Amino acid sequence: GVDAVYAPFASNVGTGKINPSKLADIIPQNNKYNQCIPQILSNNADEILAYSNAISQFGHKELNWNLGCPFTRIAHKKKGAGMLLYPDDLFSILDKVLPKIPVSLSIKTRLGMNRPDELQAMMERLNTYPISKLILHPRIGILKYEGFADIEAFSNIASISTLPMVYNGDITDLKSFHRFQSQLPGISEWMPGRGALINPFLPGAMLNGSYPPVTARNQILKNFQHDLLEGCYQTKGNKRSVLGSMKAIWGYMSGMFENQDDLILRMKRTPDLDEFIKLADEILQTPTNMDIESWFRNMGRHISY
Ligand SMILES: Cc1cc2nc3c(=O)[nH]c(=O)nc-3n(C[C@H](O)[C@H](O)[C@H](O)COP(=O)(O)O)c2cc1C
Repeated sequence: GVDAVYAPFASNVGTGKINPSKLADIIPQNNKYNQCIPQILSNNADEILAYSNAISQFGHKELNWNLGCPFTRIAHKKKGAGMLLYPDDLFSILDKVLPKIPVSLSIKTRLGMNRPDELQAMMERLNTYPISKLILHPRIGILKYEGFADIEAFSNIASISTLPMVYNGDITDLKSFHRFQSQLPGISEWMPGRGALINPFLPGAMLNGSYPPVTARNQILKNFQHDLLEGCYQTKGNKRSVLGSMKAIWGYMSGMFENQDDLILRMKRTPDLDEFIKLADEILQTPTNMDIESWFRNMGRHISY
């Protein structure tokens, strides 16, 4: 149900031989179904080049540079959205990286770290670089996930950008997606984040125009849960970590199930994976709700990374 997925950022990959753990998410055998695009969090041109050389050996054609992560411990190190405060350094990295990089370079970013005009001030110069895509989440870093994605600010950047633009932010369901589409008629690429974690049917519905029939949804989700468990076992190995990962995933997915607070609380609290799986099986027999925008605005926005 997706054209492509972006891998969680790799960081501290170094400038020498890349540790295989930094490549685990993006090697082909771990990405059988989707095109997975590697992402790096870095403020070092040599590191970006070392990582891009490594990923190109696995057949990857694009590297995404994370200039959007808003968290203080990262931004303070002049990384992620923190890099937006240092345009000269940012451009100097592009000057060093782009002539040598063996793959295309896309960027994922925010409007700014502290102010909504930081990216805007860079656009004239950014336009001169062969950047393959600019994925923009129209919020500022210091606000993390507070408030709403600023569609007008996105539209302003899109109007001065000559780079292909991708919209990201607050796509929670088909209704909100269609609203954003009508507000941003020139945009043809869309990236859902938390909406897809809450409702795994969302990306497919954005592509096909509708969700699977109500009667099919629970079985598809059961199969999905089975695949998730298997994947977690393969990567984590022990029950305790599998439980931790499944709880993190269900912290989002539970948003699809209305009036199931009791079951959800028991899933959150149980220290036992088998009990957790039983509770998940139970919740997976209850009706799903795909129109989650108002729930998301009240509850879900507190879920963030
Ligand atoms: C659990 C979680 C992990 C994330 N990890 C990354 C990441 O590694 N790289 C990145 O660029 N964005 C990451 N994001 C941010 C999302 O890609 C997206 O920009 C943000 O959630 C806004 O979109 P949304 O409103 O559709 O969720 C993450 C978000 C969440 C909730």
